[in-house]
Amino acid sequence: KCGSAVLGLESSCDETAAAVLGADGTILAEAVLSQEAEHSPYGGVVPEIAARAHLDYLPRLVAQVMERAGLGYADLAGVAATSGPGLIGGLIVGSTLGKGIALAHGLPFVAVNHLEAHALTATLPGIVAQDARGQPMPPVRFPYLLLLLSGGHCQCVAVEGVGRYRRLGTTLDDAVGEAFDKAAKLLGLPWPGGPALERLARQGDPARIPLPRPLLGRPGCDFSWSGLKTAVAHAVARCPGGVPSAQDRADIAAGFQAAVAAVLADRARHAIAMLPDATALVVAGGVAANGAVRGALAAAAEARGLPLVAPPVRLCTDNAVMVAWAGIERLRLGLTDALGHAPRPRWPL
Ligand code: KG4
Ligand code: ZN
Repeated sequence: KCGSAVLGLESSCDETAAAVLGADGTILAEAVLSQEAEHSPYGGVVPEIAARAHLDYLPRLVAQVMERAGLGYADLAGVAATSGPGLIGGLIVGSTLGKGIALAHGLPFVAVNHLEAHALTATLPGIVAQDARGQPMPPVRFPYLLLLLSGGHCQCVAVEGVGRYRRLGTTLDDAVGEAFDKAAKLLGLPWPGGPALERLARQGDPARIPLPRPLLGRPGCDFSWSGLKTAVAHAVARCPGGVPSAQDRADIAAGFQAAVAAVLADRARHAIAMLPDATALVVAGGVAANGAVRGALAAAAEARGLPLVAPPVRLCTDNAVMVAWAGIERLRLGLTDALGHAPRPRWPL
């Protein structure tokens, strides 16, 4: 009775997104609205503002992608919406809209785990994943390692198949993107601080102000960033009068970024040892856009004979293409969810 395309919705944090994919993973239409402008006066994501913005934007984005895909709801095989983990207000908005569309048109609903969606992005046919030198890569094969490095998540996962994930390590405190944002704030940079810190670091000497490298050399692949953030605060305070010069700021930024890259490379080496038959090291999340991080991870992977694979940046950060793709994979396995499915702010893989 129904078609074969899948509508995906994403609203777990501060990106509102909708996408329509064909059954084979072809992207028929996609749209993302970032709420950066709404949240930046507050220096971080304000959950209430995010939920209200999703409520405002998401129905319009759905109409837009359906129109651009040239499809009606009868052409869909199902609706997939991120249903956790994330900010509960946004999750309720996206999943409830998804369920409403499914109910109105007699379609199956898929409650997608946001982390699963990030994890499966690298298997999307037709996306041009890039290796560390920006060369195109074919989609990866299972099993592979995923380093999810975003503002909300910092974990290493063995991806062994659809629905088959093993978390190998996670952060003991902050997410790595959060560490970038906090360090950037201490250096007087606007939120979100990662991209600004990377630019500032280009003018700095990473060796002048040494910063700690938490958990470096320890077994396993857990992460910890709060000590590094505190060290940045101390380095700033130690500058004459507690006010870093332009060069001090650049050197601290460079030292911070070098410390993060070295720790991530070390954790990646441990992860590779924990999954010896991995076919690739995949990075996702906003921090995967960082050149120093990519370089260090590529070197760590290559030393073990593995490619570093990074989906294009727009598919590394939050988007609905990955949600629709996870929905397609789950529908293929007959894994649908009841309309009573409750969104989950915490939902480990
Ligand atoms: O995946 P993402 O867009 O959103 C979620 O957190 O879900 O990640 C955003 C995070 C922010 O903390 C931002 O500062 C960081 O990724 N980020 C970067 C860079 N671009 C974004 N961190 C370091 N270097 C970058 N170039
Ligand atoms: Zn995300």
